[in-house]
Amino acid sequence: MTRIAVIPGDGIGIEVTREAVETLRAAALASGRPLYLETLPYGADHFLKTGETLPDAALDSLRSYDAILLGALGDPRVPDNRHAADILLGIRFKLDLYINQRPVRLLADHLTPLKGRTTRDIDFVVFRENTEGLYVGMGGIFKKGTPDEIAIQEDVNTRKGVERIIRHAFEHARARGRRRVLMSDKSNALTYGHDLWQRAFRDVARDYNGIEASHMYVDALAMQMVKDPAQFEVIVTCNMFGDILSDLGAQIQGGLGLAASGNLHPGKTGLFEPVHGSAPKHAGKNVANPMGAVLSAAMMLEEVGRADEARLVEQAVVGCIREGLTTRDMGGGLGTREMGEEIRRRVSA
Ligand code: NAD
Ligand code: IPM
Ligand code: MN
Repeated sequence: MTRIAVIPGDGIGIEVTREAVETLRAAALASGRPLYLETLPYGADHFLKTGETLPDAALDSLRSYDAILLGALGDPRVPDNRHAADILLGIRFKLDLYINQRPVRLLADHLTPLKGRTTRDIDFVVFRENTEGLYVGMGGIFKKGTPDEIAIQEDVNTRKGVERIIRHAFEHARARGRRRVLMSDKSNALTYGHDLWQRAFRDVARDYNGIEASHMYVDALAMQMVKDPAQFEVIVTCNMFGDILSDLGAQIQGGLGLAASGNLHPGKTGLFEPVHGSAPKHAGKNVANPMGAVLSAAMMLEEVGRADEARLVEQAVVGCIREGLTTRDMGGGLGTREMGEEIRRRVSA
């Protein structure tokens, strides 16, 4: 029996997760294999009521599930985003989910804002380092609130951490028959941390004959993702750059509403979530696009060994897009619920 922990979280996260969960149920019904889903309350409401973000015991219990499905975290009532840092970054760091896999794949020609591009031109994957870099929370503020204030945010790059994400990018390329891996950094300015990325990339690349290893500074990469996305197959980069590039990647494949991601560590419980956030201004209005959450659930099905159900769900999403059945952000007229129902109608057909 596959066991999934579900954390809907905040804002539109709650609405899109509801559709993803019901889609998972429909896929399980179609395949006839049991699926156990347990919803956990962690998020802004729970934090404001109890003062609790993600208790240690809950974090420990997450390890016993096959996977975790998350909506989004972020609420204007928690301005410092503390609960989101504890829950989302807490799960990524403490479960050591060092791979953030964010596919950029155009599902239908008309979805990209890039002139003249087709589904053949946009199909790559971004591997974002997910456990270190600028995200580790090391640093501090000195003389806060005075004119002499100093704020320091450390960028942590370990040889082990950098090497394992780069190696994973090459392993993925080898397993999927991809021929190119590109590493992106800012080593021309960040001459210590990203010098380590340069050296680790060169060393790891030597183990993968037949896979072309190349490099771009992140500013040039952002430009090239718009100018000529067809050149990319596998991109590997640090935590912060991966965050930024994956929103850019989301837009060239049709928008943040349909971008999916998986936070992974082979052999451990993975965390699957849409790339987008809680979009507070859209919350509770039945307008959010659930496709990013549904496609993240499909990634999850694939990872937990239910590839047939993953295909079923993906094809249902593609079917809706081809027929113009989408939410408003993608030019359609459906609400969140109705979009979910259309997807499920195809899953169950
Ligand atoms: P966001 O991704 O929530 O929204 C940005 C804009 O993108 C929205 O205003 C909306 O126009 C569009 N959008 C995003 N998802 C959509 C969807 N499913 N359907 C339709 N339109 C969609 O980013 P933000 O506004 O910068 O952040 C809002 C909050 O979410 C913040 O608290 C932020 O920290 C948090 N956040 C959380 C995650 C996460 O939990 N993984 C990711 C990103 C941002
Ligand atoms: C994402 C989000 C998070 C990140 C935020 C909410 C901390 O933007 O998952 O892309 O930066 O990793
Ligand atoms: Mn982001």
